[in-house]
Amino acid sequence: MKIQLKTTSLLAITTDCIVIATWGNKLLSSGAEVLDQRLKGALTAFLKKTTQLDNAGDSVFFTLREKELNAAQLLLVNLGNKKELTIDVFKKAMDKVAMSLEAIRCKSVCFAFDDITFKDANIGQAVRTTAIALQQATYRYEIYKSKPKTSALEQVIILGNKAQEKILQAAAKQAEATVSGMNLTMDLANCPPNICQPEYLATQAKQLMKKFSSVTTKVLDEKALKKIGAGAILAVGQGSNHKPKLIIIEYRGAAKTEQPHVLVGKGITFDTGGNNLKSFDGMLGMKYDMCGAASVLGVMKAIAELKLKINVVGMIAAAENMPGQDAYRPEDIITSLSGQTIEVLNTDAEGRLVLCDALTYAERYKPKSVIDIATLTGAIITCLGDINTGLFSNNDQLAEQVQQAAATSQDGVWRLPISSAYDAMINSNFADIKNIGGPAAGSITAACFLARFTKKYPWAHLDVAGTASVKLGMNRKATGRPVPLLIEYLLQQV
Ligand code: BES
Ligand code: MN
Ligand code: ZN
Repeated sequence: MKIQLKTTSLLAITTDCIVIATWGNKLLSSGAEVLDQRLKGALTAFLKKTTQLDNAGDSVFFTLREKELNAAQLLLVNLGNKKELTIDVFKKAMDKVAMSLEAIRCKSVCFAFDDITFKDANIGQAVRTTAIALQQATYRYEIYKSKPKTSALEQVIILGNKAQEKILQAAAKQAEATVSGMNLTMDLANCPPNICQPEYLATQAKQLMKKFSSVTTKVLDEKALKKIGAGAILAVGQGSNHKPKLIIIEYRGAAKTEQPHVLVGKGITFDTGGNNLKSFDGMLGMKYDMCGAASVLGVMKAIAELKLKINVVGMIAAAENMPGQDAYRPEDIITSLSGQTIEVLNTDAEGRLVLCDALTYAERYKPKSVIDIATLTGAIITCLGDINTGLFSNNDQLAEQVQQAAATSQDGVWRLPISSAYDAMINSNFADIKNIGGPAAGSITAACFLARFTKKYPWAHLDVAGTASVKLGMNRKATGRPVPLLIEYLLQQV
């Protein structure tokens, strides 16, 4: 998706469709007034009589006669009370607008944003919100269909005024990179598990190195993991023929001496549950158990495109959780990379096991912050649904930064506690720690498990089981979350 900024008159723009804001009182925005004049007041007249724009978020096409303007049609969208406009109202309106544009198979669209101000956001956020709405409406994963449908949308023009030029220019670039990152994340997430295996994720990470001179990719294979003593990730992968990998993507945007921010993604390419085998209902959708890893790859691609002036390390703990002859069992005791011993009580609580070794490995980067992204618990879906990602942290300042980035990017999180009373629930009779607590407070005890491996740096954990993919009939579909949140967080670190 190409996003272009223009500060000319609306009349000069050649496009399939111009999206124009109207306000609750039906007055046109100033950018549209020139159009109305050219159309001899036809727009104002239409607005007076139409009943299709009564509520905020409503939109309606206004078809033009041939050669009347350089655009084929207008899409009028009611943004409500001009002084009360919030980014949330705007997002809902743009989600609908994007679907209408896709429905008419629009190739080129122009958004007249020259006269929009928000109570709680800036115009740059509006550009990113619009781009994401278009990405969501136009994205399809149909490469395995004999007749794949593709979206027609190619060009997005943002019309702004001169005063906004700088902020809009930056926002257009960020929006383009966010969309590009989300596309990669969703393609990987949707990819079937007979293709997307640990090896495949490693190849994807190496492709980033090929494409960007700022990126270096290293892959620790089974042999290397044995050598360093990463017993937890090895245990999870031992039931599969597709052996586990710890994939490390180093992005250099600042001096070598500058400490990096680290992102760690759960990359279970398929979660059968292992010997604690999942049911039919429980197993469908488990190709999405590598959404954390997919979001790390998407974010690394986006920041490399943006040439962000910070250092970031993306890590992916990749394994396939299978039952079988060699699979790990309940009551096995394994030794993690940290040296802490773990009693496995449920082989379906595998995410925390692959992550704990990656989180220990992250120590060697002396990171400024570490954020892990994981489809870790079904319990977080019971708790927060598909609305908010679960946030856990050992550092209030980091948690607040993540919450702020979530608000700005409209990619919501909700913080939950990880206090000592919960932590006590994962003490083991036979080892240092056991891999399940509960059944009560399942998402929290999972986070407490990770917290035992992240004592040496500021750390946040995002449980995206409910938000990275959402129900679609019998299985699920990828959303691209929390890529917008993570990009916003990293933009704030520059
Ligand atoms: N990958 C699942 C969590 C999950 C469930 C993600 C549903 C998306 C949708 C995770 O590995 C898992 O199986 N968790 C168990 C933990 C339990 C055994 C303590 C769960 O949530 O039931
Ligand atoms: Mn599992
Ligand atoms: Zn899992």
